[in-house]
Amino acid sequence: MKPVFIALDFVDAPTALKFLEPFKDVKPLAVKVGMELFYREGASIIRALRDQNIDVFLDLKLHDIPHTVQQAAKQIGQLDVQFTTVHSLGGSEMIKAARRGLDEGANQTGVDAPQLLAVTQLTSTSEEQLHDEELVPVSMAESVSHLAKMASQSGADGVISSALENDLIHQAVSDEFKCINPGIRLPSNSVDDQKRVVTPTKAFELNTSGIVVGRSITQSDNPVQTYKDIYNAVNGGIK
Ligand code: C5P
Repeated sequence: MKPVFIALDFVDAPTALKFLEPFKDVKPLAVKVGMELFYREGASIIRALRDQNIDVFLDLKLHDIPHTVQQAAKQIGQLDVQFTTVHSLGGSEMIKAARRGLDEGANQTGVDAPQLLAVTQLTSTSEEQLHDEELVPVSMAESVSHLAKMASQSGADGVISSALENDLIHQAVSDEFKCINPGIRLPSNSVDDQKRVVTPTKAFELNTSGIVVGRSITQSDNPVQTYKDIYNAVNGGIK
């Protein structure tokens, strides 16, 4: 089944855990912990979530020299999280170092190593920015498919991408390579700061491997029902 990661973009653990209380009997349940919550709470928030058997995607987007990334990934590998992220622009050696670090950390603690997802180009980066600020001469599509291929050859299990790029990435790499998609909105939602958004049903049609949903669930009047509806839609069920 394709996971729906609820983005726990909350200021602290009490707020995040309070939000999750009504979800206590909901299965399967997966969440994304990002920089905001992790920098505040550290490993304790991960333990609190894993104690409740919730799958965790720890989204810290590592990007540094390979040695530093390997050591950081080793720490993450010990946390028993199911997914984590690096920036593919750190290069093949850095991604391989992340993979090694995650495996070392997981082996040390006897847990499963997290799946490694690479950010290709941030969805906030425009074609103009790519050319004018980064002096990248190729198109966004070429850059994204090249980076996805390089990430796959360096040990990544998938990428974070716009659902609109899934076909391109699957063609460049393989159908099994995971494309996890943020930028999801229900037809009734405002798009907020996201620009290229799709609905959960559209993400299913675009062969998503799983989606990240923040505000559509966290700001819903009935977060549990909204989560269930989105989970069904992204798995090809009710629309
Ligand atoms: O509230 P919303 O559904 O827009 O939240 C999306 C989540 O996915 C946020 O936690 C954001 O940081 C994350 N994300 C994203 N675009 C990316 C990578 C991650 O929106 N390319």
